[in-house]
Amino acid sequence: MLELKNIVKTYVMGHETVRALDGVTVTIKDGEYVAIVGPSGSGKSTLMNMIGCLDVPTSGEYILNGQDVSKLRDDDLATARNKHIGFVFQRFNLLSRITAQRNVELPLRYGGVGGKERAERAKEAMTAVGLGDRLTHKPVEMSGGQQQRVAIARALVNHPTLLLADEPTGALDSKTGAEIMALFKKLREERGITIVIVTHDPGVAAQADRVVRIKDGRVESDTLNTEEDRANAVVH
Ligand SMILES: Nc1ncnc2c1ncn2[C@@H]1O[C@H](COP(=O)(O)OP(=O)(O)OP(=O)(O)O)[C@@H](O)[C@H]1O
Ligand SMILES: [Mg+2]
Repeated sequence: MLELKNIVKTYVMGHETVRALDGVTVTIKDGEYVAIVGPSGSGKSTLMNMIGCLDVPTSGEYILNGQDVSKLRDDDLATARNKHIGFVFQRFNLLSRITAQRNVELPLRYGGVGGKERAERAKEAMTAVGLGDRLTHKPVEMSGGQQQRVAIARALVNHPTLLLADEPTGALDSKTGAEIMALFKKLREERGITIVIVTHDPGVAAQADRVVRIKDGRVESDTLNTEEDRANAVVH
């Protein structure tokens, strides 16, 4: 479970201070599937960076799986991140010169896992995303949807409890986007993993359990989707 309490994040730009998050309080339960929506510049990515332990708040408290991570130093923050969290980005962020398998192995390399175990776990993660037969392809030899699957396999390889995705369908066509959403749904059902996804697509948001709407760095609304919302969701 994760609990954000009155999170404020300000950036100082010359003489101006930008209040990217202005007192955000949100609790997300284990296994919950949450969509974060809101206008451009409202603070969604900043919030994801907090949730993902990529950055710490200016003030407020963040409790992740029982640990207060809001005041950790960089290296302790990195440890918390590696232990609990997988990331997926809009632009995949894969290394283009190495194979899919090697890309997926990277987080394990940083974690000091040996070669044989690395290869096994990367293959397992690639199989889980339906790409067990594409291990030796490089990103340039794969479609956008396949590249996003590789990025998801990389996010899963450390068996995180929390999967964070910032606009994961933003660079994909609607059919491929729908396939990626179906994969998230499957991972959630099979692994009980908590998923938080930022999206501009109402159809993507409708598939989640819950929608948190951000405006001007604050939570504007926080509502549960109905069974009907989820059944009628169409990815655009
Ligand atoms: N590193 C930074 N330094 C200074 N200002 C920043 C920084 N990161 C974000 N901001 C500012 O904080 C505000 C929120 O930005 P953020 O990237 O969180 O918005 P967003 O909701 O993700 O927008 P989008 O939908 O366009 O991705 C913006 O006004 C932005 O300019
Ligand atoms: Mg953003």
